[in-house]
Amino acid sequence: MSEKALEVRSLTKRIRKKLIIDDVSFSVEKGEVFGLLGPNGAGKTTIIKMIVGLIGRTKGEVFINGFDLDREFKKAISEVGAIVENPEFYGYMSGYRNLKHYANLAAEKIPKERIQEVTRLVGLEKAIHQKVKTYSLGMRQRLGIAQALLHNPSLLILDEPTNGLDPQGIREVRGYLRMLAKSGIAVIVSSHLLSEMQLMCDRFAIIEKGKLIQISSIDELNGGNLEQEVAFEVDNADNAVRILKNYYPGFAEKVVNEKQFSVKITRETIADVNQLLVNHGVKVYGIGLSSTSLEEHFLKITGTDGQGGMAYVVANKK
Ligand SMILES: Nc1ncnc2c1ncn2[C@@H]1O[C@H](COP(=O)(O)OP(=O)(O)O)[C@@H](O)[C@H]1O
Ligand SMILES: [Mg+2]
Repeated sequence: MSEKALEVRSLTKRIRKKLIIDDVSFSVEKGEVFGLLGPNGAGKTTIIKMIVGLIGRTKGEVFINGFDLDREFKKAISEVGAIVENPEFYGYMSGYRNLKHYANLAAEKIPKERIQEVTRLVGLEKAIHQKVKTYSLGMRQRLGIAQALLHNPSLLILDEPTNGLDPQGIREVRGYLRMLAKSGIAVIVSSHLLSEMQLMCDRFAIIEKGKLIQISSIDELNGGNLEQEVAFEVDNADNAVRILKNYYPGFAEKVVNEKQFSVKITRETIADVNQLLVNHGVKVYGIGLSSTSLEEHFLKITGTDGQGGMAYVVANKK
């Protein structure tokens, strides 16, 4: 059987005349946390609803753990656990009773041990016999994940799982998503926040106006091929820039003042530039990186800064 937990090909959704999702293809490996990143209205929820069979597709194929959603619907769907809209629980019942209720509704029999197991997986052992109405939002979220995991799916899909959570809650979600992925499940999460994607995912797809713009791995973003504005503080900025120009004629650098200049380079190049300067006797006192550059990167490629364009994108891995 394939190691792909999910493969979607040319996923397309048209509602009346409007093209909501336009030819989206990607796949997700087992053991991976994969993100769908895009501003509100981009189409994340629609993509997820099509994958889990909640709405029809205009075009495209979905394979879940190798099963074709069209031809082997039952098998395919039994491999998915998802929270699409906010999970509904009975507040007057305990978390355990709620899970038991869902377990009873399941197609296949779910043993009591599995309820205990998922409770442990999401760290709700202590609170599981309390009424759900006493739960915090984060605890409800975890109970929702426990419910989605009851039937032992190989693919877990969570639509905006960190929505409304405080930083502590977000850290928790991140923690157990990583743990689930480690256990061999594939996890898909959606979010409109790049900063969350960075913390939760191994790879993510950027969705904009129903189109898949780019798939990036977090390592790629943090590593090689993203150009960012880097500020250098040296003993003599003009001298340093002159040296650099000899080696990198194409550099677009800005001298800020006598001692500072900035240049748009990739992370790898920072080390090279530093070494070059030091080798030529330049004293380097500081190297500064704009921490917002990843956010900028996202805004630039999604065009939500009003300018559009692909300014910062070097590698387009689509
Ligand atoms: N049933 C529907 N009828 C018409 N338009 C819809 C329907 N569902 C979603 N849309 C539109 O599709 C686009 C994508 O929506 P959605 O998938 O909810 O985006 P996201 O989850 O990324 O915020 C939006 O423009 C939304 O208005
Ligand atoms: Mg949505």
